[in-house]
Parts: sequence; structure tokens; C-alpha cells
Amino acid sequence: MNAHLQAIPQIASPVDSRALRTALGQFATGITVVTTRAAEGALVGLTVNSFSALSLEPPLILWSLRGSSPSLPVFESAERFVVNVLAEAQVEVSRRFALQVADKFDGVAHAENAWGQPLLHGAAAWFECRTVSRQAAGDHCLFIAEVERFTLSEAAPLLFHSGGYFALGSRL
Ligand SMILES: Cc1cc2nc3c(=O)[nH]c(=O)nc-3n(C[C@H](O)[C@H](O)[C@H](O)COP(=O)(O)O)c2cc1C
Repeated sequence: MNAHLQAIPQIASPVDSRALRTALGQFATGITVVTTRAAEGALVGLTVNSFSALSLEPPLILWSLRGSSPSLPVFESAERFVVNVLAEAQVEVSRRFALQVADKFDGVAHAENAWGQPLLHGAAAWFECRTVSRQAAGDHCLFIAEVERFTLSEAAPLLFHSGGYFALGSRL
């Protein structure tokens, strides 16, 4: 038996989606709310932690959206969207935008950018993006987008790990 393998406590089958989800939860992330405006004018947004930096030159980011989401047709037809990086004071915003409620923006303070897309007040950073590629990937749709404008605040970011919210700890 290989000594390295013995050191691994548990190896779950890749098709055991519950175990996979638990293992993926070991990858701590920030939290974003991705927002846009539908062609008929409605504001749309959802909590997303699949956001990631992709390229600096050109400036590209990525995120993925569940294929069964009612928001998918809107993001498929919207040319642009905003990634609002949540601050640690925005746990309730994260919870709200992860719900399937009629008007997620009710009572959530926001401004609008040049395209009428929501910039949530109190965020740690805002990335205004233009989609350059969309592709189905398993049960999600992968969006790659160019960052056209960005702004950051001094707010500390909200973190997500193993199904729970966290604030930054000590610097190592
Ligand atoms: C911490 C967290 C991260 C999430 N990340 C994603 C994500 O990356 N992609 C996604 O499609 N849904 C993600 N979700 C789930 C959506 O926020 C949730 O399904 C939301 O209701 C989707 O909006 P919709 O009703 O417009 O589909 C996440 C939820 C939470 C709580």
C-alpha cells in the first residue's frame, strides 16, 4: 500500500454529491451578489460564491449560474452585469439574495451604474463586467466576462466556508 494514500483520511466516490459538497466546502471563498437589469426593466440578482479572478490582461473574471435558475435567461440576454463583493456586515444581504423571493431588492440600498444595473451599498468592491463567453458546464452555465470598471471600499470582506459565514481572522 502506498504510504501517501494511507495518510488520506477519507476518499469519497466522486459521484457522492453530498460528500463532494462537503469537501468543496473546505475551499473558503468570498461572497458576491451578481446583479443586472432584465430587458423589461426588472432588477435581478443572486448570491454567488463561484466568482473567481481569471486574467489580468485582459481583465477577466468568471462565475457560474445553476442551469435551472429563473435568472439564467436574464443573464443570457444581458450584455453586462455587476459583481458586488459583499462586506462582513452584509450577511443578511447574502441570505436575502440566495432566496427565491419576488423582489430581492426591496429594502436593499443600492445605486445604479450607467446601464441601470444595481451597485449594492456597503459592498467591499464592485466589478462592472461585460460577458465575453457563456457555456453550459454540467448543471451550470459558466460566464466569463471582461471587467470594464471597478471600485473598492475599505470594508472587510465577508467569507464563506463549510456552509457558514465568517469574518477575516488574523493575518498569517
Ligand atoms: C453562499 C452561497 C453561494 C452561492 N453560490 C451560487 C453560485 O455560485 N451559483 C449559483 O447559481 N447559485 C449560487 N447560490 C445559490 C443562489 O444564490 C440561490 O439559488 C438563488 O436563489 C438563486 O437565485 P434565483 O432564484 O434567481 O435562481 C449560492 C448560495 C449561497 C448561500
